[in-house]
Amino acid sequence: MNTSAAPTTSEADLVTRLPAAFRWGVATSAYQIEGAVDVDGRTPSIWDTFCRVPGAVHDGDTGDVACEHYTRMPADVALIKDLGMDTYRFSVSWSRVQPHGTGGVNPAGIAFYDRLVDELLAQGIDPWVTLYHWDLPQELEDAGGWPVRDTAYRFADYSMLVFDALSDRVDTWTTLNEPWCSAMLGYAYGAHAPGKQDYPAAVAAVHHLLLGHGLATERMREAAPRKLDIGITLNAATAYPASDSEPDLEAARRADGMGARLYLDPLVHGRYPADVIADLAAEGVSLPVQDGDLATISAPIDVLGINYYFSQQFTGYAEDGSTVDAAGLPISRTLPLNRPRTAMDWEIVPEGFTDLLVRISKDYPGLPMVITENGAAFDDIADETGFVADEGRTAYFTSHLAAVATAIEQGADIRGYLAWSLLDNFEWAYGYEKRFGIVRVDYETQQRTPKQSALYLRDLAQQHRAR
Ligand code: NOJ
Repeated sequence: MNTSAAPTTSEADLVTRLPAAFRWGVATSAYQIEGAVDVDGRTPSIWDTFCRVPGAVHDGDTGDVACEHYTRMPADVALIKDLGMDTYRFSVSWSRVQPHGTGGVNPAGIAFYDRLVDELLAQGIDPWVTLYHWDLPQELEDAGGWPVRDTAYRFADYSMLVFDALSDRVDTWTTLNEPWCSAMLGYAYGAHAPGKQDYPAAVAAVHHLLLGHGLATERMREAAPRKLDIGITLNAATAYPASDSEPDLEAARRADGMGARLYLDPLVHGRYPADVIADLAAEGVSLPVQDGDLATISAPIDVLGINYYFSQQFTGYAEDGSTVDAAGLPISRTLPLNRPRTAMDWEIVPEGFTDLLVRISKDYPGLPMVITENGAAFDDIADETGFVADEGRTAYFTSHLAAVATAIEQGADIRGYLAWSLLDNFEWAYGYEKRFGIVRVDYETQQRTPKQSALYLRDLAQQHRAR
């Protein structure tokens, strides 16, 4: 396996190894924490609908109540302040702000984000807006959703409603969170809303998501009242080949192509990767590119958000040793790296983080990165006060921050680290069963209790600032 040196992991080390100017923050998303799904004019999103499909979400959980953040927002902001975080990345619910996915702004809906931004600024916390974190208004899905080109234009219009309302105070803007998940989990694998299993539609969704990003970026840039940071957040990982054999190298190439380069190449270089286009063509699928789209998609960005959770190793051999499947297409499957796993069953691979960041900095140079999400779910055990001594999560943060430090030392331009997540919350198809919070949420009482990992990050950020 081609990995970097194992990162060192002491806290004192991190304080000196991370650069002086470095953001410390936490992230959340609207549907995962807000609740209040039917107030102030909000209409259903694809997640409200998907949660009602029997068997779609663990235990039939929904985001109806979630963390009641919609009503508890001021206290949650105070919590971010208490944890010494300087940045808060949150997402805006499209169906609150523009309930029918088209038309003017819903004043009651945008008012919530207006108050949130004011509250953050009053506490000295930098607001970071994500415009789309997976919750498409259901009406737009009914009109075809992301596989349809018009949705990209709808997204740009919606983005401008939010931008017009908040750009006087918000400096950092992310268009999309993890478009791979929206496209592939939503339209190819059916694991996320809207729960479709239609590969050509998913590939069309990839292109329309990227187009929506580009259209919104161009319009925000033009309307920007001052120098703002505009970007996108991708989920990416290192795809290791299980060996140097041709089929294994090929399997890793394909995984990297579909997972990372299919997004990074058009965004940064203004072209889709030829090998991925060829792979798709072999499956009879193509990207619905029109003239001018790639110039739009590659509109310059100021920051690339990276969400990292795990890496995987790929093999091009089936268990019986064959290298093609029944349809004659090449095998590509994962093989365990035999590492400890989180409660998500994701292997803990911090050096995959270093390798990813260094590689992006080489292949896509000149693009500052911020870690917009990193974190882990574990089976937390709370004491009678609600406190969780989450050693596993704390160790995960340490090893992954060390991996970031190593990447910086190897030349990657990384400007900050936002932990996922501020609160335990609605973990999509896993419902409330999986807990990623650095703050425990007791869903019976909505009591918030910082876990050991929250105190660890608070102390680390404090020491780092004071060094
Ligand atoms: C990335 C997503 O952006 C976030 O919504 C999710 O909760 C985490 N991954 C953990 O799965």
